Amino acid sequence: MERFRVVGGARLQGEVQVVGAKNSALKLMAASLLAAGRTRLTNVPAILDVTIMAELLRRLGCGVDYEPAEGVVEIDVPEQIGHRADYELVRALRASICVLGPLVARCRAADVAVPGGDAIGSRGLDLHAFGLQALGAQVHVHHGYLVAEAPDGLAGADIRLEFPSVGATENVLMASVLARGTTRLTNAAREPEIVDIADFLVELGAKVHGAGTTVIEIEGVDALHPTEHAVVPDRIAAGTWAFGAATTRGDVEVVGGRAEHLSAALELLVDNGTSVHPTDRGFRVTNDGRRPHAFDVATLPYPGFPTDLQPLALAYNAVAEGSAMVTENVFEARFRTVQELARLGADARIDGHHVMVHGNARLSGAPVEASDIRAGAALVIAGLVADGVTTVSGAHHIDRGYARFTDLLQGLGADVTREPDPPPYVS
Ligand code: EPU
Repeated sequence: MERFRVVGGARLQGEVQVVGAKNSALKLMAASLLAAGRTRLTNVPAILDVTIMAELLRRLGCGVDYEPAEGVVEIDVPEQIGHRADYELVRALRASICVLGPLVARCRAADVAVPGGDAIGSRGLDLHAFGLQALGAQVHVHHGYLVAEAPDGLAGADIRLEFPSVGATENVLMASVLARGTTRLTNAAREPEIVDIADFLVELGAKVHGAGTTVIEIEGVDALHPTEHAVVPDRIAAGTWAFGAATTRGDVEVVGGRAEHLSAALELLVDNGTSVHPTDRGFRVTNDGRRPHAFDVATLPYPGFPTDLQPLALAYNAVAEGSAMVTENVFEARFRTVQELARLGADARIDGHHVMVHGNARLSGAPVEASDIRAGAALVIAGLVADGVTTVSGAHHIDRGYARFTDLLQGLGADVTREPDPPPYVS
């Protein structure tokens, strides 16, 4: 186990490259199962979650070549694939639930281990099951596995999701492309990653319209063919660097970042003392060394403020001028960062799904622990605005979602290194 060692004081300055989105790459890998043959994905991030998804696809019978340094994954999908995703891998990667839709579509059956709840909430699967049932699958839980069976194949349907769940939208989308007839999915999630998956499916030969809006229509086809596709840039990584620049009073060009995918977050930064300008290669975030102002923020499904940036908004408000209320509306238990920020001296108090934060100009370095990917990134950024040394344990969480995090921070002038976590005390 490793931890990050962060020496406070640096303003993030320079340029940073954003590569493909974790939350698209993993789904595109799963969607590749829909077409026999060799599919090639580029701009894939070099992260642990991709390695785990590659292993999951291999266990289903695919050949997978993953070159992290080149950002390329090639997947050879045989005519016959397995349809069981074991607990051992699913527990390491909750996103593996996204093989459910493609497996039912291709194999007419899928057994996918039920992922455990994780550190950000219970994260039910009822909407995934509801969507597949509407397409004609029988879905039940058996010995810890979500079992979906559609011996006669899937049939298009009108489906309205109660909540625009990202994962449920993706599973319905991926299952319905090979269903008989037309599917109309209402109250669908609108995230850029959904659009990326829909574009990919169209390149595979699927008929999908309306992705990026609340209504997606899918006309089923008999078969799909492999393709080559570049993963959409990671808006959450881009947002992390934007918050990193604003929080440390720095000046960062986010190369490859798409400002239009981050409007809600960037507008808040701009309204509160940070400049954001488009550049030829992305966008630049700077506040010229001035302390930014605190802002109230409430997370919402896209195009609202992303829940994945909420821990970053907490770290920002902990050092901004003024007070702020941060409200979490997407995951019920995504406030583990608060107690760790408090260890750094932040004045933050949880009240239900709100956090009240009063900004301190500086925090003070301390040992803290990352509970998930985004909490980890937020704590490293907070360590940069803390006096002295902060250690962030649980580096593996950050590795799941951020490629070359230490290198990129060092490239922006931060004094951040990795070191082994001391062994736990045993009496
Ligand atoms: N929900 C249900 N039932 C369902 C599905 C979802 O109750 O069947 C609830 C969840 O419990 C949660 C809310 O709906 O409270 C949102 O869940 P959603 O399905 O939209 O999210 P997800 O697909 O599980 C993806 C990302 C998350 C990101 C969310 C929201 C992946 C692998 N994960 O999760 O990313 O926070 O969408 O945008 O795509 C991360 O990258 O660190 C991360 C957690």
